[in-house]
Amino acid sequence: MNQNTLDKITEKYENLGENPDAYLEGLVYAKPINYWDYIQVDTLLSLQNTRTDFKDESVFIMYHQITELVLKLMIHEISQICEEEEITEELFIDKLYRLQRYTDMLITSFSVMKDGMSFEDYNQFRMTLTPASGFQSAQFRFLEIYATPLFNLINEKEKEKLPQEPSIETLFEHIYWQSAGLDKKTGKKSHTLKAFEEKYLDEFTRLAYQMKGKTVNEVLLKFESPSEKLITAARDFDNAYNVKWPIVHLRTATHYLEKKGEKKAATGGSEWKKYLHPKFQQRQFFPQLWKDESIMEWHQESD
Ligand code: HEM
Repeated sequence: MNQNTLDKITEKYENLGENPDAYLEGLVYAKPINYWDYIQVDTLLSLQNTRTDFKDESVFIMYHQITELVLKLMIHEISQICEEEEITEELFIDKLYRLQRYTDMLITSFSVMKDGMSFEDYNQFRMTLTPASGFQSAQFRFLEIYATPLFNLINEKEKEKLPQEPSIETLFEHIYWQSAGLDKKTGKKSHTLKAFEEKYLDEFTRLAYQMKGKTVNEVLLKFESPSEKLITAARDFDNAYNVKWPIVHLRTATHYLEKKGEKKAATGGSEWKKYLHPKFQQRQFFPQLWKDESIMEWHQESD
């Protein structure tokens, strides 16, 4: 063994007040690690439990699980931007590129949903999922809370109803996703929305307090003269996450839920065609970067 390595091991355990020899002797008996143990393949592959016998239900479950893993990677990256004391432009750009790359994965792979399942089978097995909906994916919302102040997640019409200096709790009452399940006339919420809030609203609120002044948007605003490269990286991510992904998702919903003029009800019960369009939601992580232009490209997208 390289003496230098041996010295480092000795130093490491002596610093911990431990006997290095005992640890080295342990190596004599320890079993070598395997790929399947490290990646936890067995656990990962045991999580696909279907509710029907339709083959494509497995495709549906696995693709959702893949998306949740990609979102976890994204939250892993975005939270580092917010936690960094004073992030350099270089690191900031690198993190935004990573976020962009993951979002691109979600966009380009979405055809697995749109074209990779039988129309008939999907429309049967999905009925066993009511009232669950991808709407209840909390990671989508956690990511938004890291990305931008809640105010930017409220559409223009709803902003007019806000009091002066609204609290975080009030902002959540007006956030864009309320439109998926809140009947504004009766004040009644759909089961899908109620269950979602019961499970996650406290956690969302806690994170929003924690992120006050620290969101990616606010980190960006601290740069007095950001480079073109940084601005482009931020805009590209904003556009990909808030326009391009919603559009491929909406097209998929339209493919399965609308045929020959007939519009089917979604499992989550929203007015999905209107609600899912980025033009309706008007989510923008970095509105200051779009000031001089028609809002992103969503006006150019017809549905
Ligand atoms: C065949 C595939 C899919 C269809 C037809 C579909 C359809 C819908 C519909 C109609 C909604 C509106 C809420 C409702 O009333 O249920 C919705 C929301 C949502 N779905 Fe999907 N979806 C599909 C796949 C996915 C996948 C793979 C994901 C990834 C996790 C996903 C994530 C979401 C999210 C995050 C929302 C909320 C969007 C928002 O609030 O802007 N969906 N989906």
